[in-house]
Order: sequence, then C-alpha cells, then structure tokens
Amino acid sequence: PTSPTPLLQSLLSALWFFSKWSVKYNPTKTCALKGSTLFINGTYTNPAKFNVKEEFWVTEDFNVNENKPLYCKPTKDSGRVQCYVDKQQHFSLKLINVTKEDEHDYCFRIKTNVANEKWLGDPVKISVTELLVNTLLEVIEREAAVLTCTTKCALTDSPTFIWYKNGRLLSSNANPLHLQPVSSEDAGSYMCAVRGYEHIPSPAQHLCVRYSPKNVSVSISPSGEIVEGSSVTLTCSSDANPPVQNYTWFKEGGTSPVGSGQTYSIISIMAEHTGLYYCVAQNEHGALNGTVTIKHNSVRVCLQFGLYLPSPPMYLTQDDVQYSTVTPSRCRPVQDDVQYATVRVQCDGVISTDQLEEPQYASVIFHHHTSATG
Ligand SMILES: *[C@@H]1O[C@H](CO)[C@@H](O)[C@H](O)[C@H]1NC(C)=O
Ligand SMILES: *[C@@H]1O[C@H](CO)[C@@H](O)[C@H](O)[C@H]1NC(C)=O
Ligand SMILES: *[C@@H]1O[C@H](CO)[C@@H](O)[C@H](O)[C@H]1NC(C)=O
Ligand SMILES: *[C@@H]1O[C@H](CO)[C@@H](O)[C@H](O)[C@H]1NC(C)=O
Ligand SMILES: *[C@@H]1O[C@H](CO)[C@@H](O)[C@H](O)[C@H]1NC(C)=O
Repeated sequence: PTSPTPLLQSLLSALWFFSKWSVKYNPTKTCALKGSTLFINGTYTNPAKFNVKEEFWVTEDFNVNENKPLYCKPTKDSGRVQCYVDKQQHFSLKLINVTKEDEHDYCFRIKTNVANEKWLGDPVKISVTELLVNTLLEVIEREAAVLTCTTKCALTDSPTFIWYKNGRLLSSNANPLHLQPVSSEDAGSYMCAVRGYEHIPSPAQHLCVRYSPKNVSVSISPSGEIVEGSSVTLTCSSDANPPVQNYTWFKEGGTSPVGSGQTYSIISIMAEHTGLYYCVAQNEHGALNGTVTIKHNSVRVCLQFGLYLPSPPMYLTQDDVQYSTVTPSRCRPVQDDVQYATVRVQCDGVISTDQLEEPQYASVIFHHHTSATG
C-alpha cells in the first residue's frame, strides 16, 4: 500500500491545522407539510486545534451568553424530535409529524474544549404548511372550474399533487385542476394531497355546480284508467340547481298558462280535458319543458244505464232493444258526444223474471249525436 508522500502529508496536516469553522445545511430552508417528517442534514468543520466537546441544535430563542435553551442534543432517545451526529461531522435533525409549533429558525451549535472557541451555524428556516383546495364555491354548468391545491410556502421537494373527488382518486395530477366545461356531474367534495403523503390530504372543499332544469318529467295520478268526474293531478319533476323556482302549465293549443306550481289538478275531468300538457320548469339559469298527454282513450266515462225491462219480459230474443234508462252503471271508453246507447241483450232459452234482473250484454253500441240527429 502506498502512503502519501511526506510533502503531501505535511500539506494535508497544514490544511487540517488551519481548517476553519463552517456549518453547511441541506436543505438551507425547508417548507414541510404539516404531519410529515422532515430532515435537515449537514456537515461542519472546525479548527483542528480545538476538540469538539458538544454539538446540539438551538432555535432563535437561544441565548448565546447563557448558552441555552438547548433544542435537540444527540442521544439515543427516539422522540418526535431526533438529532444525530457522526465522526465525519455529518449531522441531522429529524422532526416527525411536524406542526405549526415547529416553525422556527434552527441553528447548529458546536462547543469545544476552549470556552471561547464555539460556533453557531447560520439559521435554517422551517416553515410548515397545510394543503387547501382553493376554488370558487359555485360555478355554472358549461363554464370553467379551477381548483388549486395551495400551500403557504413552496414545498421543498417538487411535489406531485393528487386529487380526490368524493374520496375517489382522480387521474389528473395537474395543479391547478381545470374542469372545463364543468358539468353537473363535477359537483362534489374535493381534496388534494401530495404523492407520498396521501395520508395527510387537505380538508374537503365542496364544489357546487349550478344548472338550468334538466330531465323534466310529468307524471299523472291516478296512473291507470281515469273515470270521468274524478280528479286528476299532474306532477312535474325536474333536476335543477338551484331547484326550480316556478313551474308553469300549458295545454297544447293554448297560449296562456292553465296553471302554476309543481302540481296541476283537474278537479272533475271531462272528455274535453284530454290532450297534451306542458310543464315549463324554470330557475334563474333557464327553463325546460316536459310534457304529458291525457289520452283520449284513458279517460273513461261512466254511462248510467237504466235497465228498463218491458213487461212481460218475453220479447228479449229480438236483436236490438231500445232502453230509455239503464242501470247498473258500467264504464266504457269515452266517445264524443254520446247521446244514447243501443244495448243488445242476449238471453238463452226460457227466461224467468228473476233471471232477467241480471241480463248479459252482448254489446253496447254508442251512437254519436250527429248520427242520431242526422
Ligand atoms: C437526510 O438524512 C436522512 C437519513 O440520514 C435521509 O433519509 C434523507 O434523505 C436526508 N435528506 C437530505 C435532504 O439529504
Ligand atoms: C401528529 O400530531 C398531532 C398533533 O399535532 C396528533 O394529533 C397526531 O395524532 C399525530 N400523528 C401521529 C401519526 O403521531
Ligand atoms: C331522469 O329522471 C329519472 C327519474 O328521476 C331518472 O330515472 C333518469 O335516469 C333521469 N335521466 C337523466 C338523463 O338524468
Ligand atoms: C318565474 O320565475 C322567473 C324568474 O326565475 C320570473 O322572472 C318569472 O316572472 C316567474 N314566472 C311566474 C309566472 O311566476
Ligand atoms: C315546449 O318545448 C317544445 C319543444 O321541445 C316547444 O315546441 C314548445 O313550444 C314548448 N312549450 C312551451 C309552452 O314552452
């Protein structure tokens, strides 16, 4: 093994002898996420003629004359604040789960065997920030939403931002996050975090998207067969944000509204109420209409059949019998302008008076007013 030449040896020892105080940190200032773990590492040199007796960390409240308070001294202790130093004069400060209270200027302090030969390194500033989602709280659909994950100071290691919507990870790592055009589906609760620190995300920020009514639908109650004279209610529903402020009802063919409010009731329905109804749902962002049709054949009219039996009831085999009044009632599809009905009664064999009280109708034929008078 080759040993350094005597010249080099003396040169090295001269350098060593004349070495000066220096303290270097990496990084020289830091911005850490609240809840994260941070390191300040460094190295120092000292004039070789003095023997280092003590190394420790202090903060800005350190009093040089009193030489206290002492912030962290290398020990075996493994609390939230830890510091180390090795023989090569590498040192480090480790802060676990940093909080606002850790925001200080930190200096590395070295003392030697000679009382006046001591050194205080330059301060390293530690800033602690939380993440916050910054956005307009409300945006209008089809416009743009911009969500920014903000920090109070620029995070030291160029971070990758990640986004969560309603607790689900989004694919974008962009900061700010642009939602353009924004849709009603984008409404929700947003959080951001820094990759590697997913466990300490920002608080949730709600994004509200306003939109004009969509998906306007009209339901009819009762939904099945409607009996003439009964009441019918039309109900308009719509998805809108803010909710629909007013509903206006129109009937096809009419220009002025027939009603307003979320429901429209027809108290006593008649054949002439059949037709197409529009519900116009409106909020401050716009209007949309939905329709429903009260179908011609869904309104049923109860015809009062007064069954008048000619006496004696022997003539019932004839094909067409005219009744002036007919009971009991039966519901039949509505026909326009029904004036009277011809009822065909079918009876088999010999019929007694008793049996005739419940006749069988083979068919009921409705005659229109026009054909009756014409
Ligand atoms: C500081 O030292 C620790 C452990 O010794 C290491 O994990 C960390 O990456 C170092 N940080 C820097 C900025 O050098
Ligand atoms: C971090 O510190 C906060 C108080 O500042 C505490 O509530 C929390 O439990 C700590 N987290 C961990 C993982 O120790
Ligand atoms: C419209 O509303 C109905 C009932 O609320 C719903 O089932 C349907 O999915 C909606 N359609 C759209 C396109 O939003
Ligand atoms: C419906 O609401 C709009 C505003 O949202 C208003 O201008 C309009 O007059 C309202 N119509 C009725 C009939 O109340
Ligand atoms: C409802 O919308 C249709 C087109 O979808 C339109 O023709 C009609 O005039 C609208 N009715 C009302 C009352 O706004």
